[in-house]
Amino acid sequence: MSRKTKQIIFFALLSQFLIYSLFVYISIPINNVGELSVNSQKGKLIFQKYNCIACHQLYGLGGYMGPDLTNVMNTKGKGKDYAKAFITSGTAKMPNFHIPPEEIELLVSYLEDVSKSGVSPTVDFNINKDGTVTINK
Ligand code: HEC
Repeated sequence: MSRKTKQIIFFALLSQFLIYSLFVYISIPINNVGELSVNSQKGKLIFQKYNCIACHQLYGLGGYMGPDLTNVMNTKGKGKDYAKAFITSGTAKMPNFHIPPEEIELLVSYLEDVSKSGVSPTVDFNINKDGTVTINK
């Protein structure tokens, strides 16, 4: 194969890669996903301080003793008061950490922002032809 042919193939592949990358970049909506409010940032530190991730998962990652907390705030039948009850009192399986009320508010604020940022576990989804994923709610 001549050097010229190799160059043509190289630039053809390179341009396809760039066009595809641009396509993927502009097709993903940018809506401040993952951006945390000031209170949520503080809540994240509290979440880390009490090591909640030792037993819980966020986005499917973490410990597996307790349930995934990604969508605890926007799941039907759960939500703010439900989560507060668990965090305030604990259960037979979850310890009561005696967390002060102001820290609980920050934790709740963090979990609310996490709930808006995605869906987990993603049991029902389609992989599109362009490699992106659509979650069926
Ligand atoms: C020692 C393990 C452990 C730790 C650490 C822990 N949890 Fe839990 N948590 C659990 C278990 C187990 C459950 C399920 C309780 C049950 O069904 O009795 C639970 C339940 C919950 C629930 C209800 C979830 C649902 O979908 O029903 C919330 C909210 C929660 N925990 C928040 C927290 C937060 C916030 C922290 C950190 C401050 C934390 N947990 C730390 C074990 C833990």
